[in-house]
Amino acid sequence: MTFEGVDGSGKSTQAELLRDALVAEGRDVLLTREPGGTEVGERVRELVLDGPEMTPWAEAALFAAARAELVARVVRPALDRGADVIADRYVDSSLAYQGIARGVGVEHVLELNLHVVQGLMPDVTVLLLLDTAEAGRRVGAPDRLERAGADFHRRVDAAYRELAERFPERIVAIDASRPAAELSELIRERLRSRI
Ligand code: TYD
Repeated sequence: MTFEGVDGSGKSTQAELLRDALVAEGRDVLLTREPGGTEVGERVRELVLDGPEMTPWAEAALFAAARAELVARVVRPALDRGADVIADRYVDSSLAYQGIARGVGVEHVLELNLHVVQGLMPDVTVLLLLDTAEAGRRVGAPDRLERAGADFHRRVDAAYRELAERFPERIVAIDASRPAAELSELIRERLRSRI
């Protein structure tokens, strides 16, 4: 399953809380974070988050490269051994940020990514929705993408809402403005029948 949302929506905290809850039930759980998690992925992370300005297609291709490594080396082996995988960002991040907000085109980015992950899409995606001004206040030291400006963040927020309408069977959208512990319970409730 994957967690998605704008920067500052609290998805990393929620992904960790869900991981902890599943581990407490005795399940074998892997939590991944993108970009990163492999040697190539960590280098891509530096380049894309702290590097120079680049074209939207370069960004899409770099995130895809990091994802290819992560899926092949980490996610697939974990699924093959029967573990549950929770991903803090996955294909929907590229669809929202590069495909829609940066204008590469959602169909192009989806096609690229479906090849990259060899068709491996999440069973369920938790989309945390939060007013972009509130999310902005929660972000600490901003990286290159987080500095992109309020307009860009509003486009990402709108992009995620568009994706939720397009993939209603997979994406569970949840209001993320409540306190973390309460939100975590709500997420588990909404996922109960699906995981
Ligand atoms: P983020 O989840 O903010 O990582 P961290 O909290 O560790 O800094 O992700 C980093 C940024 O990368 C974020 O602004 C979203 C962006 N991003 C994309 O634009 N496309 C992608 O495919 C992914 C995975 C991330």
